[in-house]
Amino acid sequence: MLFSLVILLFISPAVAALTDLQANCTGPDRRYNGTSCYVLLKIFKTHNAAKLSCNHYLGYSGHLYHIRNAAIQAATSLLISTYSASTDWIWTGLEPINSSAALTDKNNWAHYFRNGTFVSATNLSWPTGQPAANNRVIYRPSDDKIYSKPEGTALFHICEYEEALKLPVTDLEKKCVNLTSSSVLTSFVNDVCYVLQPAVTKIYNDAKVACNALNGYDGHLAHVRTMEELWIVETLRAAANVAIVRLGIGQTNTSSTDPYTGWYLTTPTNPPELTTFLPWATSYPTASMRTIGVTSGYPKSFATLGFNAAYPFICQYESITPTTTTTTTTTTTTTTANAGEDCTVTSVWTDWSACSQSCDKGIRSRVLMSNTSSNCNSTSTPTPTYQYESCATEVQCKSSSTKITTLKSECMGKTGSHFAYSSCYFLANISGTQADASDYCVTQGGQLASLFGEDLVSQLGSLFLQFSSVQVIFTFNRADIIDIGV
Ligand SMILES: *[C@@H]1O[C@H](CO)[C@@H](O)[C@H](O)[C@H]1NC(C)=O
Ligand SMILES: *[C@@H]1O[C@H](CO)[C@@H](O)[C@H](O)[C@H]1NC(C)=O
Ligand SMILES: *[C@@H]1O[C@H](CO)[C@@H](O)[C@H](O)[C@H]1NC(C)=O
Ligand SMILES: *[C@@H]1O[C@H](CO)[C@@H](O)[C@H](O)[C@H]1NC(C)=O
Ligand SMILES: *[C@@H]1O[C@H](CO)[C@@H](O)[C@H](O)[C@H]1NC(C)=O
Ligand SMILES: *[C@@H]1O[C@H](CO)[C@@H](O)[C@H](O)[C@H]1NC(C)=O
Ligand SMILES: *[C@@H]1O[C@H](CO)[C@@H](O)[C@H](O)[C@H]1NC(C)=O
Ligand SMILES: *[C@@H]1O[C@H](CO)[C@@H](O)[C@H](O)[C@H]1NC(C)=O
Ligand SMILES: *[C@@H]1O[C@H](CO)[C@@H](O)[C@H](O)[C@H]1NC(C)=O
Ligand SMILES: *[C@@H]1O[C@H](CO)[C@@H](O)[C@H](O)[C@H]1NC(C)=O
Repeated sequence: MLFSLVILLFISPAVAALTDLQANCTGPDRRYNGTSCYVLLKIFKTHNAAKLSCNHYLGYSGHLYHIRNAAIQAATSLLISTYSASTDWIWTGLEPINSSAALTDKNNWAHYFRNGTFVSATNLSWPTGQPAANNRVIYRPSDDKIYSKPEGTALFHICEYEEALKLPVTDLEKKCVNLTSSSVLTSFVNDVCYVLQPAVTKIYNDAKVACNALNGYDGHLAHVRTMEELWIVETLRAAANVAIVRLGIGQTNTSSTDPYTGWYLTTPTNPPELTTFLPWATSYPTASMRTIGVTSGYPKSFATLGFNAAYPFICQYESITPTTTTTTTTTTTTTTANAGEDCTVTSVWTDWSACSQSCDKGIRSRVLMSNTSSNCNSTSTPTPTYQYESCATEVQCKSSSTKITTLKSECMGKTGSHFAYSSCYFLANISGTQADASDYCVTQGGQLASLFGEDLVSQLGSLFLQFSSVQVIFTFNRADIIDIGV
């Protein structure tokens, strides 16, 4: 009696412990072993393209499989032999730890996750003479050994989904995977969705504002700040088989003659952020080429590109994090949910305005519109947010004068100021209410320039263009333009 009760207690948790992954890991092409689900794909793919295909179960950061021990090797060997000819070669998640170091060194190989980090690989079944100097590794079931092969070979592969990596499936992950098609490559990694459309090429300024595939997310050209991020974008580039892909990195000082410094991570909205991770490819950088792309030669990958050359580009999308504005060049974009249930406020940028041009400078603007769903409690209407950026140039001045007036000479001596239409304008870096700004202007002998219409923006083109992007926010902590003397 007591004995059978004890057995029941032991058995019932084991029955109830079937995980989601176990429950879903069914079919002749998959097998659950240890704490992972393995899925065999009998589709010929290069190693990089194979990596991107591990999306059978969202939320598990699927990756090419890791041969951690003899049991896993045996389980996957069984999966291959029951599913297809046991002579098939299968890509594994093994990659060199340092691609510049000797590929023939057994200690230079590790199992990679989806995000470019890796775990060490021990007790690997290399036959004599392996690894050879190739950059990826296959498993060969016919002799139960692993061999190195070049990345570009098209072979079958096994994806692995681990219980330990399980995370809630986000809307962004679903949308990201949903974007994937024969012409769109995606990679959802560390809550970021990377997207590459190999057949779409753009010059820098157009690419910079083209990352709009996922509404409600912060989209911009990809930023690469670490070796892991480089690994992710290199995977996309190589899988797409394109020579160069653009990133969101630019040299903002267009007078600079030093190609090694002054590189900034750029977005259409935020102030540029200085970056020092610059793994130049052989024979790069080139002076006066002010944007960056990824080319072959990983981990020496960065190539300098001209602004006006069209290349494919990698976008990255992430959740919008509301930030507080403190200086003239800071930005805020918000998606908020509050008040009544199912109340959502989404912010969407309007299309860019026509390009207002004067004297070789062009500027265009757009407005962040808030869309409040019907079941929101009525709250204060969000204040509009405007954004400006440079656009087409090379428009002739309609009129110009070389006469120097007192105001003009004073204005020219003032840093950050701009003389136009008989007025001297400058950006004031102050925080406060509109009344504070107005008071400040009066103390400077001027008045607050009250409108950000296209005309004024056009007049102030060169002033705005001292910054790669100026965002003006009509809330507290605003950027103010002060007009002294007319
Ligand atoms: C996995 O199984 C659970 C039930 O155990 C189910 O709710 C879920 O939708 C399945 N997920 C996938 C990706 O099939
Ligand atoms: C994994 O597969 C191996 C080889 O088939 C087997 O011996 C082992 O029992 C399996 N382990 C689990 C936990 O399923
Ligand atoms: C990679 O290997 C190269 C060649 O041996 C070496 O110069 C470089 O320092 C190594 N990089 C790292 C990060 O260890
Ligand atoms: C990369 O992914 C692995 C497995 O998902 C995780 O353990 C690791 O923390 C991740 N690394 C980074 C830097 O996010
Ligand atoms: C590696 O192989 C050795 C000898 O074959 C064995 O003693 C050891 O347990 C293995 N280690 C792992 C992690 O499988
Ligand atoms: C994914 O795409 C399908 C078909 O286009 C669509 O019905 C579905 O709503 C999409 N899912 C998400 C999360 O966007
Ligand atoms: C831009 O580069 C030029 C040439 O190197 C240099 O003289 C100038 O000071 C730089 N401007 C800024 C704002 O760094
Ligand atoms: C929003 O409206 C609901 C229902 O009218 C009410 O219960 C809730 O307290 C309101 N929330 C706020 C933040 O005003
Ligand atoms: C606001 O959202 C609703 C529902 O999602 C949509 O039908 C409408 O077109 C949106 N309006 C604007 C201006 O985006
Ligand atoms: C604006 O003023 C703040 C506070 O004095 C300062 O930290 C910041 O660097 C200034 N920004 C610019 C662009 O001058």
